[in-house]
Amino acid sequence: SGLITIDPGYKNTGSTKSAITFLDGEQGILRYRGYRIEDLAEKSTFLEVAYLLIYGELPNQSEYEKFSREVTTHTLVHEDIKKILDGFPSNAHPMGVLSSLICSLTAFYPNSLDPNRSAEDVNLSIVRLLAKMPTFAAWAYKNEVGHPVNYPDNSLDYCSNFLKMMFALPAENYDVDPVVAKALDQLLILHADHEQNCSTSTVRIVGSSHASLYASISAGINALWGPLHGGANQSVIEMLEAIKADGGDTKKFLDKAKDKNDPFRLMGFGHRVYKNFDPRAKIIKKAADDVLAKLGVNDPVLDIAKELEEAALNDPYFVERKLYPNVDFYSGIIYRALGIPTDMFTVMFALGRLPGWIAQWKEMRENNEPIGRPRQVYTGANERDYVSINKR
Ligand code: CMC
Repeated sequence: SGLITIDPGYKNTGSTKSAITFLDGEQGILRYRGYRIEDLAEKSTFLEVAYLLIYGELPNQSEYEKFSREVTTHTLVHEDIKKILDGFPSNAHPMGVLSSLICSLTAFYPNSLDPNRSAEDVNLSIVRLLAKMPTFAAWAYKNEVGHPVNYPDNSLDYCSNFLKMMFALPAENYDVDPVVAKALDQLLILHADHEQNCSTSTVRIVGSSHASLYASISAGINALWGPLHGGANQSVIEMLEAIKADGGDTKKFLDKAKDKNDPFRLMGFGHRVYKNFDPRAKIIKKAADDVLAKLGVNDPVLDIAKELEEAALNDPYFVERKLYPNVDFYSGIIYRALGIPTDMFTVMFALGRLPGWIAQWKEMRENNEPIGRPRQVYTGANERDYVSINKR
């Protein structure tokens, strides 16, 4: 064990080579398969980006049509899954519901447990995941609010179908607002991959034992849930609301975040890799202004967020530590303007990250990577004799 280097949190440990996402944290650069995130966010669509991440190239027209047709064909889920959903109390957090429903796919498609199944069969799992995740996500929400679930509408694009399943009620007409669908599509693109983050590393490490793709993705969803990772988008809005309820004194909260005896952190700030502006945060900040203006929404927490950002960027504590707003800082404000409830924000992140998780799992298996198994340095008791219970 003398040869083992301990690196808690793997801050300086490379776990793999990867050809999927390039990230330069010093300069604030992010590219998927070589394409700039700024270009993809402006010009592409989420399904196209999913194809790019998973298969390595942007699809041509016929590849794209085939892929979106396949994804659309598999949006329905087995009716018995509704029984699983019914078993959850209505106050269940939708992230727990989502990871459970995704994991239940291992039971509905037991072929997926075979580590040696054909590439076509693996591809079918990939398509099913992309197709069914929006259905599960919307159903998790319906379970929470006690409304009947909506079935997918395959005449709609990916995001419009999701929004309709989320918000349509049987007694009312529901037309998807194209501004909302476009804004959601852009947010999903921005979340689609981020190399070896906590949830992606989880997906790869679970998959490295040759566990099924569905089980690996389910584990990734759970890793994403925590407030230091994807759960931060929910925590940011809760923090902004708390500042508002407290009278709007941003300085007070900044001081709390700087106080090492206080566990409070400025949510949506700081990043393991970015020591500069998170390029996604830049795009999302601008999108927040655009989307709220287009929808005619005036959200006072947007002003609080901007004031907080400005104060932090000029505060020596944050400057010295190179803490900048990350992807989660402004995304929740947009989700909220789109009508998405706070506890669904991390589900939105999961929906966006899905193609990245899939691409990373596929790369790991295709490269035949060994099982993930870190080492440790033991610090416990030396060898000692067993003492029977009546002598302890
Ligand atoms: N507020 C106050 N202080 C902070 C913050 C923050 N948000 N983030 C980091 N610091 C301080 C930290 O206390 C430490 O100070 P010191 O050197 O005096 O001990 C220093 O900055 C370095 O931080 P760290 O915790 O060692 O850095 P890390 O790479 O282990 O953690 C992080 C990265 C993202 C978990 C952390 O910055 C954090 O907790 N941020 C708030 C939660 C958040 O927004 N998470 C979303 C991350 S981005 C998207 C995603 O993954 O979902």
